[in-house]
Amino acid sequence: MNMMENSCALVLAAGKGTRMHSDKPKVLQTLLGEPMLAYVLAALRPLFGEKILLVTGHAGHMIAQAFPEAGLVRQEEQLGTAHAVMCAMEKLEQAGAGNILVVNGDTPLLDSGTVNFFIDKSSGADIAFATITLPDAGPYGRVLREKGLVKGIVEAKDFDRGAHGEPTGEVNAGIYMFSLQALKALLPLVGSANKSGEYYLTDLIALGLEKGFETRGIECGHNEDLMGVNSPVELANMEERLREREAMRLLQNGVIVHAPQLLRASPFARIEPGAEITGPCEITGNTVIRRGAVIGSHCIIHASEIMENAEVRPFSHLDHAIVGENAQVGPYTRLRPGAVLEKDSHAGNFVELKKATLGAGSKANHLSYLGDARVGSNVNIGAGTITCNYDGKNKHPTIIGDGAFIGSNTALVAPVTVGAEALVGAGSVITKNVAPGELGISRAAQKNLHRIKK
Ligand code: UD1
Ligand code: CA
Repeated sequence: MNMMENSCALVLAAGKGTRMHSDKPKVLQTLLGEPMLAYVLAALRPLFGEKILLVTGHAGHMIAQAFPEAGLVRQEEQLGTAHAVMCAMEKLEQAGAGNILVVNGDTPLLDSGTVNFFIDKSSGADIAFATITLPDAGPYGRVLREKGLVKGIVEAKDFDRGAHGEPTGEVNAGIYMFSLQALKALLPLVGSANKSGEYYLTDLIALGLEKGFETRGIECGHNEDLMGVNSPVELANMEERLREREAMRLLQNGVIVHAPQLLRASPFARIEPGAEITGPCEITGNTVIRRGAVIGSHCIIHASEIMENAEVRPFSHLDHAIVGENAQVGPYTRLRPGAVLEKDSHAGNFVELKKATLGAGSKANHLSYLGDARVGSNVNIGAGTITCNYDGKNKHPTIIGDGAFIGSNTALVAPVTVGAEALVGAGSVITKNVAPGELGISRAAQKNLHRIKK
């Protein structure tokens, strides 16, 4: 029978991650802007679809908030990895799972290919686990073999050369496949008489062999991508591996990356071949950068879309923004959520947009704040223009029609509308609408008086 047909995946994510010294659960620590767990789920989804359960415990509400669509199981007290699986048994049985892939949630570089390989190799077994061989077994569970055959896993803390022999460097990667029957038979037999006083999932290997279950240790070579993350140092190392891998992947795909060693691009972003990026840059979230777009150095771009041939010049900061075809941004532009630059528009230095659209061909080139604003096409926003969108209680909109010209140092006190082709005199404080084609000006007329010298 096809192993995948009635399989479920179970991700263990209830631990606190004491060594991270953080209030958030370890699996929410981020690599290139995405929580560890997002990577694990992304590796499992192509194979398991919706049939993925997460065991949460420590600060589980934070995980539920970050992954609202995930199926969750509570482990109130974190008594160990075997206990975590036990907490999920009821749901697994309800789901009719025949085989369960159990994965530690702190293995962010896991990929679908490896999971597939592992599942393939575990076909027909009741119990299987992935092993990797490291130069130093470190804190990992050590794999015991006799004449090549697996005998068990001994946790690092409980490892004793006298009793267990010389360590080989072959360790448990924290990826397992169990038949439901094996779990049902063996979980109740796991005790906590070990150095940590925890219920170890790894005890299932020796127990399974004892009870005659077909048990396999599947060697995945020197695959350091399967290493777990337990400390800030390990997090930084894994993040760097991931960063480098992604930068190389982009280059190989045909993205022009000028300093790949300085690019921090999330694998969740989509950067098309023919886009051009000069590092250092940080590109995170579900950002899309289209062909021909050019990103200058020192830009931080999150969850934004940059269209064909747009240019984002150095030191710009974009968050949930859209930059249209051929538009120009920066240097030193800040596009906050809801900023939309339509095609051929320009936002220049020290210009901030929030929930604001700059229409096609319009320009705000210097020192402006446009918030809750809709600017039509071919508008010129003079230097120092401010939309005064907030009255201390509420936010109000500013609307500027096509072809309008806003003189420098204008304050547009919202709600206010400046009509198409209207002109606003420099230095004005505009509190009333300006009709299309009108000249609005609101400043004291200049008087030149005789200068009295003392
Ligand atoms: C575990 C394995 C070890 C393996 C290593 C691979 C056990 C006993 N040991 O050790 O053999 O080499 O992973 O990385 O399993 N968790 C829960 N509930 C708990 C305890 C842990 O959900 O009560 C979760 C954690 O959130 C984590 C995962 O299980 O995602 C693994 O726990 P962790 O404490 O990191 O185990 P290791 O000591 O790394
Ligand atoms: Ca771990």
